[in-house]
Amino acid sequence: MKVIIKNISELIQTEEKSKKWVSGKNMAKLNTIKDAFIEIDNGKISSFGCMDNWKGIEDWNSTEVIDAEGGVVFPSYCDSHTHLVFAESREQEFVDRINGLTYQEISKKGGGILNSAKKMQKISEEELIKISLSKLERLIKTGTGAIEIKSGYGLNLKSEIKILKVIKKLKEISPLTIKSTFLGAHAIPEEYSKERYLELIIKEMLPQIHEEKLADYVDVFCEKGYFNIDDTIKILEASNKLGLIGKTHVNQFNAFGGIKASVDAGVISVDHLEEMREEDFTALIGSNCMPTLLPSCSFFLGIPYAPAREMMERNLPIALATDYNPGSAPNSNMNFVSSLGCIKMKMTPNEVINATTINSAYAMGVEKELGSICIGKKANLFITRKIPSYSYLHYSYGEDLINKVILNGKIIQ
Ligand code: NIG
Ligand code: FE
Repeated sequence: MKVIIKNISELIQTEEKSKKWVSGKNMAKLNTIKDAFIEIDNGKISSFGCMDNWKGIEDWNSTEVIDAEGGVVFPSYCDSHTHLVFAESREQEFVDRINGLTYQEISKKGGGILNSAKKMQKISEEELIKISLSKLERLIKTGTGAIEIKSGYGLNLKSEIKILKVIKKLKEISPLTIKSTFLGAHAIPEEYSKERYLELIIKEMLPQIHEEKLADYVDVFCEKGYFNIDDTIKILEASNKLGLIGKTHVNQFNAFGGIKASVDAGVISVDHLEEMREEDFTALIGSNCMPTLLPSCSFFLGIPYAPAREMMERNLPIALATDYNPGSAPNSNMNFVSSLGCIKMKMTPNEVINATTINSAYAMGVEKELGSICIGKKANLFITRKIPSYSYLHYSYGEDLINKVILNGKIIQ
């Protein structure tokens, strides 16, 4: 079955040849085609170009035609950092913060991640699948076509496996491209000492997760009061031995060498980076690691935004993601992340588009199949309402401008 989208006012992020990522000054460059068409065959992009060069329809019987009616077509967002599988929201902590407590103070009095873990232990796998699917259905409508989902609200073998099994099920039933990450090292549960919990992660959780192929990546929250450099290295090295690549939560509140340790352990991405020192930038230069910034978390917690411009000035690439979770970023909308990238981090719309498509695709290992409009890549894209120009999407923050979503060549909405 063929699908043809015609009358596209501008087709965004076209590529002749699939790239790994874009960095530094190149992040400001974006290939687009005005007055364009795109053809999809069997769920993959088979051709695109200018309407003037369109050959027309050869076989009407097996072709579906979509009129974009002057809307802009973007490749779907790749959201490379989420904690989407959680049992309950935590708006009481939000109120506590309004009343003056900090995120760290809330965690210390039993809120935060440990609070989510308690709720996770009670919920059934079936219920968790149901609520997670409805979250996915909602975020598909906002233009996301690929998503990374972490465990980390289980904090014991049974619950962590439950979350990873839910993610596995979501991979089977959702039209989204999904990658799963084991984040057992998200917090230290009350019932264990840190040493015992580390042993549990390394000797019991990791081997079972590897054996049952339940994770694509392994993540660690490297932060004061959570996991230090030594702990982080131990977990990442144990993962590497099993062939599992790392990712880390680093430099969110404190900078103490987590980036270098992560890069040395071969992680695919370092995420957060709100607090950066000179040596943190240096550690990233020349590496294969994608700095991933999460502006919704800065917005929600009122913490500094990561220094995006400084990173690009040093020729680094940047990815942007939601960090969707109940504690520090209860929002899964990549359009909002995009607007924050522009408004709060002073990134241009072109830089933001690169950061939310090809670069975030790299950060979750799907850059060969997603992240741009390129022949042979998956036809995951969205069509906007008629808008004056593509930057209008970032400018009109919080507006819903998406008219149609296409995943694997099929119209979803
Ligand atoms: O990425 N920083 C650690 N983990 C999450 C927050 C988790 C929570 O508060 O539930 C984050 O911001
Ligand atoms: Fe996170």
